[in-house]
Amino acid sequence: MKKPIEVSASILAADFGNLARDIKRCEDAGVTRFHIDCMDGHFVPNLTVGPVIVEAVRKRTQLLLSAHLMIEHPGEYIESYAKAGADSIQIQAECYGERLRTCHQWNQWPKQISQVDIPALRADLKKIRGLGKKAFVVFNPCTALCEEILKDCDGVLIMSVNPGFSGQQFMPEVLPKLERLKAIFSGDIAIDGGINAQTAPLAVKAGANILITASYLFGAGNLFEVTKSLKSL
Ligand code: DX5
Ligand code: ZN
Repeated sequence: MKKPIEVSASILAADFGNLARDIKRCEDAGVTRFHIDCMDGHFVPNLTVGPVIVEAVRKRTQLLLSAHLMIEHPGEYIESYAKAGADSIQIQAECYGERLRTCHQWNQWPKQISQVDIPALRADLKKIRGLGKKAFVVFNPCTALCEEILKDCDGVLIMSVNPGFSGQQFMPEVLPKLERLKAIFSGDIAIDGGINAQTAPLAVKAGANILITASYLFGAGNLFEVTKSLKSL
């Protein structure tokens, strides 16, 4: 059965000085989830927020809250994010396995691996589930799907930009990953990066059921109309 299309508001493009107001605006517009981009300045070339903000957002909404961890050693922080109130914890496959030579230094991006270290990734996904949270694995545009891990995931997040910033351009070359997931995976399939009126239909057609959006949603004059049109895809 086809899952309903969900809109997940990435607060990266919200006004952090008026976060409670923007959360309410999103809720009134009909978004179904919130997405919090947690960046450490090492896994990605940007620094954002941590569990403190997840906790603050948790106090303001009953909607599902996802913590997208773009950080090194995510396993060390799973408990903190769970305690802060995230409903789903999303960990990057590129944190598990040997890094390619092109990104051995802390300040070389995007992070890439030669092969996913399945036991290590599985252990952290189990940790997430053990805390009663939904476990998502995230794949960067240049990382191939690792199908062996799918049975350990509640959802998969396909990055359609190199992680680090909102407002980047959608990379259509990731669409075949969505198509493959649609054929073999029954959990949630989320897409993150460059979602807008032109790219969202492509993502949904290829198999995504959760559309994560920051700049398109918050940049819209009418959040309600944007949310409605995305949900109707
Ligand atoms: C990028 C983040 C995304 C980002 C999306 O590293 O993971 O969630 O906020 O921003 P837009 O929708 O503007 O591409
Ligand atoms: Zn994200």
